[in-house]
Amino acid sequence: MKNITIIGTGYVGLVTGAGMSEFGNKVICADIDSRKIGKLNSGLIPIYEPGLEEIIKKNFENSRLFFSSDIESSIKKAEVVVIAVGTPQGENGMADLRFVDSVVNTISRNLNSYKVICTKSTVPIGTGKDIIKIINNNIHDKKMFDYVSNPEFLREGSAVKDFLWPDRVIIGTDSDKAYKIMCDIYRPLYINKNPIAYTSVETAEMIKYASNSFLALKISYINEIANLCELLGADVHDVANAMGKDGRISDKFLHPGPGFGGSCFPKDLEALLAVSKNNELKMETVKAAIIANKNQKKRMTRKLLDLFNNNLNKCTISILGLAFKANTNDIRESASIDMINFIIEHGGIVNAYDPIANSEMYKIFDAIEYYDNVYDSIKDTDGIVIMTEWNEFRSLDFKRIKKYMRGNIILDTRNILNMDELSEFGFTYDNVGRIKK
Ligand SMILES: NC(=O)c1ccc[n+]([C@@H]2O[C@H](COP(=O)([O-])OP(=O)(O)OC[C@H]3O[C@@H](n4cnc5c(N)ncnc54)[C@H](O)[C@@H]3O)[C@@H](O)[C@H]2O)c1
Repeated sequence: MKNITIIGTGYVGLVTGAGMSEFGNKVICADIDSRKIGKLNSGLIPIYEPGLEEIIKKNFENSRLFFSSDIESSIKKAEVVVIAVGTPQGENGMADLRFVDSVVNTISRNLNSYKVICTKSTVPIGTGKDIIKIINNNIHDKKMFDYVSNPEFLREGSAVKDFLWPDRVIIGTDSDKAYKIMCDIYRPLYINKNPIAYTSVETAEMIKYASNSFLALKISYINEIANLCELLGADVHDVANAMGKDGRISDKFLHPGPGFGGSCFPKDLEALLAVSKNNELKMETVKAAIIANKNQKKRMTRKLLDLFNNNLNKCTISILGLAFKANTNDIRESASIDMINFIIEHGGIVNAYDPIANSEMYKIFDAIEYYDNVYDSIKDTDGIVIMTEWNEFRSLDFKRIKKYMRGNIILDTRNILNMDELSEFGFTYDNVGRIKK
């Protein structure tokens, strides 16, 4: 059992804190956002993530999980300090390390005993080395800390499961002592099989960027294949299914859609590209994945305009799904933002519904109408756009929809609607890369 302090209680910090306490460690989740900490201390979970509330409650009640806005004392109490603050996109695509730098300075001022300083935030290759330098410049006894890069691979929407049963845990460090301490934290994971890889700091940092960029590339690739399928009369689902049966390719991340979003892929690709540029190396594949993704988001808006014969003026359109993917309330970089902006710019009126992300989207668009359910949001509309693959959109009652709508246009950017039914009920529809019925 280790005493751990996680700094930054967002999607990653909160799940990591809950997960590490579930492994039997004593964890403080610390954040400068005292409102968030206040909520957590009164049992309210600030993000939606399946299974998270249960493990937070259990470990909080068993005094293994604590929440604090006193960062300095939380650092002093820990043997392992985990940095989990945001690393948003900064100038020229580079990761903005402002929050990481601020935390590193606070840590170096509060090193009251030996600590493992571990970065879970996604940081550009070389950041670990800089962090070690900054701390060393601020302290006298160089043996007071060891540094570890422990990138996180959880996916929003299945974050708890991904953290508790990870495919791999990367521990990048040049210290055997720190490696053993980190292994202790993750001990329950390797009772049956050992998912831990022991690497250098730079290798660990690179593994994170290489993995995210590869997945993003795969999405952009299948999106472009889908677009070509549309032009040539092929069906992308059959293509992707058959491709996925090849073990070298795998069927994961081969779903065409409106273009990837979220807080990671877009900024991580830009950051990798920026690092490669700074090192005078061209990474054309990464650049292509970024361009293809931007094009895909535009292509969806073009599809909508085509369905409406180039005129969205005064048309009311219901956007179903605001989150960048299902099972999360995160809307960062969601393709639905581009879609809503486009409709408004073209004189259209937006009705919006998401099972849990309405209030997040309200922070960006406060002048559109939000609804509590699908059927209220589609009343008297001219069209519907499916933007997120929520399960409840997979089994819509088209008879009811037809009755409620004024128009008959549906754009399914997630390919989750049954085309036979759409045709049967007389909808004019489009999707991504499918042969229409
Ligand atoms: N969200 C994901 O799916 C995911 C997955 C893997 C890795 N990551 C990476 O993990 C990191 C965190 O991402 P996130 O989505 O959890 O971010 P987030 O924005 O949800 O949370 C960051 C938290 O850090 C807090 N914070 C900022 N400065 C602070 C400081 N000085 N002291 C204490 N707290 C501070 C903020 O108040 C916020 O609560 C990023 O580097 C991201 O790229 C994210």
